[in-house]
Amino acid sequence: MREQLEQLKNDALVAISSAVGEEQLQGIRVRLLGRKGELTALMKGLGSLSPEERPSVGQLVNTVRDELESGLEAALTAERERVKNERLQSERIDVTLPGRKSQVGTKHPITLIVEEVCEIFAGLGFSVAEGPEIEHDWYNFEALNFPPEHPARDMQDTFFVENDLLLRTHTSPVQIRTMLKQKPPVRIIAPGTVYRCDSDATHSPMFHQIEGLMVDKGITFGDLKGILTIFTNQLFGQKTGVRLRPSFFPFTEPSAEVDIACVICGGKGCRVCKNSGWLEILGAGMVDPEVYRHVNYDAEDISGFAFGMGIERIAMLKYGINDMRLLFENDVRFLRQF
Ligand code: PHE
Repeated sequence: MREQLEQLKNDALVAISSAVGEEQLQGIRVRLLGRKGELTALMKGLGSLSPEERPSVGQLVNTVRDELESGLEAALTAERERVKNERLQSERIDVTLPGRKSQVGTKHPITLIVEEVCEIFAGLGFSVAEGPEIEHDWYNFEALNFPPEHPARDMQDTFFVENDLLLRTHTSPVQIRTMLKQKPPVRIIAPGTVYRCDSDATHSPMFHQIEGLMVDKGITFGDLKGILTIFTNQLFGQKTGVRLRPSFFPFTEPSAEVDIACVICGGKGCRVCKNSGWLEILGAGMVDPEVYRHVNYDAEDISGFAFGMGIERIAMLKYGINDMRLLFENDVRFLRQF
């Protein structure tokens, strides 16, 4: 029986050392030490030994079992280590691969113009004001001296919402909201979205305006011309000429339209300025006393001017864009140029 035990041990150690993979090792464990295993079978033979022999052979069985167990354990640990190292090798991250860059966007030309205009006026002491895009008839028309049924309402093709609510057709209602909240001196600039039922290559039903309002004691038409000249010179370059033409708005008197020398031809005359040498860029005028009456300002005590400009038109002139629709299509090949 001792020989059988020696034989079994030697065979088993050879099997363990030549086994590949955890599964084979577990198989060997079952075959040797399992309930129906070879060593277990030998142990059952102990009973047929003489009482003198039994203790020493029993001890040998224990030793062999311990040796096999620790042999198997060592082989299993080595096998698991090998598998782990193999994984670490094959799943290694190559940190030398260049990363994926996230793309940085650009500001929309409309945003760029709004920011630039607000910055120029901030330098002249104006602060930014805002108002709602869904507006009451009263702020959009009535308080600006467009009485009901007044033909001047036809100048602005209005989108009505319901009752006396509408989509504001200009940023001028912000003048009214500001004056109702604040006493003179007032110096505000109000950028925003406006809506008119109109659509072609140079008109969009949704577009942007910037409104300006300055009210204080002793403000004159000279201040209006001075401020707007400083503004257009800064926006379009120092040498741009400015001219004022008489015009009409219900809420300003007198009213003017402001032209700059054509940015394309410099005033010689071209297709863009229709050979006039001038480009209209904004409407302006001295605030009409009737407007002051609606906001409880004393027209005897103060005076002021207002102006309003279309941002799309200014963006087109400044960046040489020939179709307004480009500003709304959001084609990144176009937008990335700014
Ligand atoms: N609100 C006018 C428009 O949309 C522009 C304007 C503003 C004119 C302020 C004069 C003074 O046409």
